[in-house]
Parts: sequence; structure tokens; C-alpha cells
Amino acid sequence: MSPSGVLVVLLCALWCEKAFGGAPCPCKDSRLCEPVQRVPSKEVFGFGSASWRQYDWDVVTTIAWANESDTELLCHAHKHNVRLISAANRPEKAFLNGSEAAMVEWVRSTVARLSSIHFDGVTFDYEAPMDPTDTHTQMKYAELVKRTKEALAKERPGSQVSVCVPWSPYDIDQRSYDWRALADAADFLYVMAYDIQSQILSRCIAQPNSPIEAARYGLNAYMRLSIPPSSLVLGVPFYGYVYGCFNTTIGDTPICAIEEDPFRSVACSDAAGSQWPFRDMYRVYSGELAGVCVSGVHWDEATQSPWFNFYSLTDTKLQQQGENKMMFRRSLTPSSCSATIQPQHIPVRQAWFDSPRSIRAKVRMAKDMGLRGVGPFAFDQLLPRDGAQIKASPGLKDAAGEFWGALGEIRQADAMTATGQ
Ligand SMILES: *[C@@H]1O[C@H](CO)[C@@H](O)[C@H](O)[C@H]1NC(C)=O
Ligand SMILES: *[C@@H]1O[C@H](CO)[C@@H](O)[C@H](O)[C@H]1NC(C)=O
Ligand SMILES: *[C@@H]1O[C@H](CO)[C@@H](O)[C@H](O)[C@H]1NC(C)=O
Repeated sequence: MSPSGVLVVLLCALWCEKAFGGAPCPCKDSRLCEPVQRVPSKEVFGFGSASWRQYDWDVVTTIAWANESDTELLCHAHKHNVRLISAANRPEKAFLNGSEAAMVEWVRSTVARLSSIHFDGVTFDYEAPMDPTDTHTQMKYAELVKRTKEALAKERPGSQVSVCVPWSPYDIDQRSYDWRALADAADFLYVMAYDIQSQILSRCIAQPNSPIEAARYGLNAYMRLSIPPSSLVLGVPFYGYVYGCFNTTIGDTPICAIEEDPFRSVACSDAAGSQWPFRDMYRVYSGELAGVCVSGVHWDEATQSPWFNFYSLTDTKLQQQGENKMMFRRSLTPSSCSATIQPQHIPVRQAWFDSPRSIRAKVRMAKDMGLRGVGPFAFDQLLPRDGAQIKASPGLKDAAGEFWGALGEIRQADAMTATGQ
């Protein structure tokens, strides 16, 4: 670098620090590094930015856990008035046994970090157990959220602060926080209406990830704690669970007995299954994978959730596979799929997931309840990052479009209200 180049960089470092409270703005238009000011009529707030080029930018309003080093995303999102939200970084350090100084320092460093990456706020996702009687820690957690919001309002006006909470306030996974204080401290609570089978208290069988009646029950329970619907965003899953079944046949058998896998002192839980993003569910039930025998996709009316059974002729330990790592081999032809093969030889699996239909049902419920919004965990579970893979599966691309359409229904309501006024 030439000496004059060094000077420019130095001057910029000084000037930019003044102008933007930290790092230079990577966008052509430096205003795109300021916090987004839009107040959306309804939030479509969800997680993950990996496949952001495929998102519907007319629908999304906030992306949490967005990639902090993707400057193209930053400029694109802000141009569309979409907020980018960072994860609260180990907030427990500031409220579990933490001193006053630790809390002050946590808030200061969080605000400084958000300024340096030009983000629009932070979401708290502390999920460890807390005793219902530990009001001291409960109070400190809410205090940390409150101070963060106040500091951001001062330093980066327009910023948003949210707290992720379980599907119900009643000691889910032994989490007893002060929900009302958290709601008062933050802009809203993101109600995670998924992983609802984390503690199965009835029969040890595969069940839906996000049954609508549980979601409704939880939301009502929060409202009965005097948390207004405008402080609640309904979190919906773009992933499901695949369980290995005992003694289930491939046909249309709805009952899939699963092995016990305890979670926080309950013997049976969804830990027995594995989480699959929607796109992998789609590949199986749409018959895109050779050597996989699939039942039809069924609809469970009571829980408003779809499911199917399947087995893979090459499957020995499918359950160990994480996202994107299915071990199906394409060498087998569908004709090798035979109903005579029984689970003694190859385990039958049952998949419970969320489809555009089940998501739409929950979005309509959120709309009817007057909630502040909806949004998925996680946006990027719909489509692969790889454009070639998307092209190879037009059906998957259509399905992704339907998911976005379902999320967008949260705002169609106020369009109607607006014209009705
Ligand atoms: C985040 O963005 C950077 C820069 O574009 C990219 O190199 C990286 O792979 C991204 N990370 C993830 C997890 O998507
Ligand atoms: C906080 O303090 C309690 C009791 O003093 C202790 O049992 C616990 O391990 C501490 N937690 C952390 C995160 O330091
Ligand atoms: C599955 O069937 C076998 C043979 O009938 C039986 O011994 C076993 O207990 C069954 N397992 C479960 C979990 O139902």
C-alpha cells in the first residue's frame, strides 16, 4: 500500500469511527449502515441467513442470527428495511452470579459489537433451567434485557430486542423465568412453538413437533400473565423430527413406538428422534431419493400436522445423521422397494414435520389472536444454499414459495383492516 493509501485508511478509521460508531460502512450508500427505522405492521421474524438470496424480501422483516461477516447481506437487508439481529453472547455471564460491573460491561460490549457490525438489535436465547423460587436470578435476567434495550435505544435508535421463550410459560424443560418482566423489558417475546415433545408425559410414541393446540395453549397462557398479544411473536418450525419405530410397518400405521431418551428428568422425549430440515423431508416424501420406500403423506387433523412413514434400503444408522447428511445411496431403484421387507430387517421411520398447510394454520391463528407476528426457525431450512440443487428440484422451490406465502398471510390481515378503515 502506498503512503497516501495508508493515510486514507487512517483518516477513514478516524472519520468512520465518528460517523458510524465503529467500523467503516461496507455499503456504497453509507446510510445503509444506520439502524433500520421501519416499524412493520406485523413482524415476520425468523432465524438464519444462509440462503438469504432465496428469501422473499417483501415478506421478511427481521433476520435473527444473521451472518455477521456477510456485508452483501447487510446492504441488501437494510435496503429492504429488514433488520439484522445478533445472538446475545452468553448473557448468563452477566446475570448468573454476576456482579453489577459484569452486567454493565456486558451491555457496553454488546452495544459496541452491534455498532461495529451495523446490526439492528439482539435476541436473547437463554434456555437453561431456572428454579421457580429463584426470583433473584429471574429478576437479574430481566434487568439485563431491560438495560440492553435502554442502551441500544440511546446508541442505536430503531434497534430491536427480543427474548426467545418456550412454547408455554409453565416450567417447560424446567425453565421458570419471569416472563412478564422479560416481556416488559424487551420489544417482544419469540414463543418457540416447536420441540414441544421435549418432555413426553403420555405414551412414548412419535408425535408432532408443533401441534397447533399446544401452540394455542401456550400463547393463551402467556396472555393470561398479562402479556399483551402485541408483545408475542409466534415461532414456527421449518424442520421436523424423524423417529425410528419399534414394530411399525411401512404402510399407513400411525403409531410409532420410540425408544426412551430422557430429557430433564422425563423418560421419553424427542431426543430419541433427529431433527431434519424441511428440504430433507421433502426429498424423502416426494420420492426424489431412490431406494427409499415411503407411505403417503398423512394429515393429523387434531394437531394440524403432516407425517409419513418410510424406510431406506441402505439405512442402518440414519438417526445419526444431522442436517444435509443423509446417507441414502442412489444406486438402488424404486423397484427394490418392497412391502414384504419388515422392520426386523430394516427399521421403519416416522417423520413429523411442518408443511405450508400446517404453517398457514398457525399463521392464521396468530393473526386471529392479534399477535405481533410470526416467523420460523429457520428460514434457510427450506432450500439448499447451492443453486444447482435448487434447479434440480422445482417442486422444492415451489414448496418454499408456499411457505413464504403462508408467512406473508400475517400481514394480509392488516391490509384488509387498513382498507376497512
Ligand atoms: C458468512 O459470510 C461470509 C462472507 O460472505 C462467508 O464467507 C461465510 O461462508 C458465511 N458463513 C455462513 C455460515 O454462511
Ligand atoms: C452460581 O452460584 C451458585 C451458588 O453460589 C453455584 O451453585 C453456581 O454453580 C454458580 N453458577 C455459575 C454459573 O457460576
Ligand atoms: C415388538 O414386538 C416384539 C415381538 O412381538 C415384542 O417382543 C416387543 O416387545 C415389541 N416392542 C415394542 C416396543 O413394542
